[in-house]
Amino acid sequence: MSGQIRIGGNQLLQLLGKKSGWCDIPKIILTSAKNSAIPKQLPISQIEAIILKPYDPRRFMEEIYGSLSKHLDSHIQEINHQHIHLASLIQELATISSKASDRYTTHQKLKEFLEFTSHHFAFEEKFMCQHNYPDFATHHQNHNQLLTETNTLVSEIVNGSQPIQPKTVDLLKRDFFDDVSDDERYITFLKKVRTDLMR
Ligand SMILES: [Fe+2]
Ligand SMILES: [Fe+2]
Repeated sequence: MSGQIRIGGNQLLQLLGKKSGWCDIPKIILTSAKNSAIPKQLPISQIEAIILKPYDPRRFMEEIYGSLSKHLDSHIQEINHQHIHLASLIQELATISSKASDRYTTHQKLKEFLEFTSHHFAFEEKFMCQHNYPDFATHHQNHNQLLTETNTLVSEIVNGSQPIQPKTVDLLKRDFFDDVSDDERYITFLKKVRTDLMR
């Protein structure tokens, strides 16, 4: 760094690791050090590549494209894993409602579904914002609608005397799978970003 501030690579990485906007960003180190011990001094798990100077600009660009592409792929993979988990939660909820289980069991499962759904939507939306997803506003609205619907169901179970009806779970299931279809468009967008990177 220039001016009065001097900071080592290791220290810089530690600072970036603590910043929410920076911690998940892939990092590539360019260094003039020719010492093979460099990797031992740095938190390797946070680093995509270490390029020693003098460096080949083509290799530098390849590393950037490669790490961005990896980052996109792992995001898509994580979305798919989270959908599988949510689908199994909603299936368990359907089973619970078909057996007319007690309110406590239903409440616990519904809360679990609500918490994981909130986490999942936040995960998608953060990445959508970072990548200027053009349908973000509509997608966000649909997410909010599903969260409101689930929240209402949770309060109805807490305050009401009726167990959750299978028909209600069917509606929730339909809205959840509608969102998964919307996500397919989002994933297609991400795959296009990845393809454009490689041109
Ligand atoms: Fe989703
Ligand atoms: Fe979504």
